[in-house]
Amino acid sequence: MARENWTSSIGFILASAGSAIGLGNIWKFPYMAGTNGGGTFVFVYLLCVFLIGLPVMCSEMLIGRVTRRNVINALGKIELISSSTFGRNILCFLAGAAMVLFASIHAWLLAGASLIGAVAFARKGFAAVGWVCAILSFAILSYYAVVGGWIVEYIWRSLTATFTDIEGVTAIEVAKQSTAEFGAYTANPWRVLIGFAIFMALTGAVILGGIQAGIERVSKILMPALFVLLLVVIVRSVTLPGAWEGVVFLLKPTAAAFSPKVIMMALGQAFFSLSLGMAITVTYGSYLKRDQSILHAAGWVGILDTLAALLAGLAIFPAVFSVGLDPSAGPGLIFGALPATFATMPLGAIWATAFFFMLLIAAVTSSASLLECTATVLIERMRKHHKRCTRRCAVWIAFITCSLAGLLSVFSTADWTYLPCVEKGVRWCLGSLTQGNWFDTLDNLCSNWGLPFTALIIALLIGWVYGTRRAKINLLSSDASKNPPKWLLTAWGISVKWIAPVAILIVFLTMSGLLKL
Ligand code: TRP
Repeated sequence: MARENWTSSIGFILASAGSAIGLGNIWKFPYMAGTNGGGTFVFVYLLCVFLIGLPVMCSEMLIGRVTRRNVINALGKIELISSSTFGRNILCFLAGAAMVLFASIHAWLLAGASLIGAVAFARKGFAAVGWVCAILSFAILSYYAVVGGWIVEYIWRSLTATFTDIEGVTAIEVAKQSTAEFGAYTANPWRVLIGFAIFMALTGAVILGGIQAGIERVSKILMPALFVLLLVVIVRSVTLPGAWEGVVFLLKPTAAAFSPKVIMMALGQAFFSLSLGMAITVTYGSYLKRDQSILHAAGWVGILDTLAALLAGLAIFPAVFSVGLDPSAGPGLIFGALPATFATMPLGAIWATAFFFMLLIAAVTSSASLLECTATVLIERMRKHHKRCTRRCAVWIAFITCSLAGLLSVFSTADWTYLPCVEKGVRWCLGSLTQGNWFDTLDNLCSNWGLPFTALIIALLIGWVYGTRRAKINLLSSDASKNPPKWLLTAWGISVKWIAPVAILIVFLTMSGLLKL
């Protein structure tokens, strides 16, 4: 079967931006900034995006374009290693996964795990990392869809004007009440389950529509609309009384708030927001034509994604400070701040509905990219082993397994009440990595350990094994007029070879306690 190609460069950029811009920008970025020191986090985040995230993104697109395969096959293929067997892949995958897990649980195991990892990589290791990526995208979708479900719920609430229809009540009271309501809502998993199911169904529906028809068309229309709506909310938010404090909190770094943990959180958030950790961008890159410049495409995606995150921050924090919410409230932050903002706008219910609707679409384009990745891996894997697996069947398998895995997050977004046995198991396996409930633990594991780990491997692979010289040629477009200036290429080379690997390693070593700064 011939693989489809992106019809145009702009289509590719928009689809990649559609994958990148989602709940990570509008829900996660503000709450991460709030819990990690505001301006300091934002400053470190920007450094992470431009010094590490974008170069890694280029590398991923490159791997996709050079190999024209899904992530597992691509990594095994990139002119490093000869033919492979399925069993060996699985072995190496286990070694790789063990490396990710154990390295972070008990610091003293890091050395041993790295040794196993090193041996695994020497024999087919990169394909093994491909499996880690595929599993990461699967795991991320399982909790991402829960947050997507919250958005579905909030569309319903704004349609029925639950939080905007409040004559004579001040924004401060609305904020307090919405925060309490959000807590009550997430404590009731049956209600959360409804939103989750709707969100998963939407994601499945987009993917069954096919790459170009589904993702490209949807993101072309609705992404600009989301930006416009964000601007509207910002205007309201910064004109609330006492809003300026929030702007200062978001944009002014302070030395006191700085810590190695901030770097780790910012790095993880950068990879999460840019959809890195290779699964997605490799798959997308594999559809990219030779005459398109990767540096250009990645640059645009990075700028749009960062802009969306900063705009979301500007929409949330002025309101947070104006109504006296706690900026470090965690995952529920925007569900306290946004209703309060909308409640003080004329026609608030309409704005709120439109906003949550756009956010839902942005979230679906992101979750679709996650499901797409899992499905693509399934299809190509099955085909390799001569089994008949149509695209439709692969999407169904991915969809059903992921929905089941997501139930764990659905039933533990508030606490472990519904899953006491799982709690015991998770605490036993993960030790100090267990953060609150399953939802938070999985998020921490995937974004702060898993994604940087795969990014590290990608950087090492391109920078040291494949080689930046060969890579630089392939990064360019076959059409010379579309190429970026030389210094950008040089900077890219330095980053994948030195800056990205060293930074990620230092973060890992510090966070696992092996290195004291
Ligand atoms: N980047 C998306 C967001 O910000 C989430 C996402 C989509 C993602 N695909 C990914 C995160 C792949 C990590 C890896 O909402």
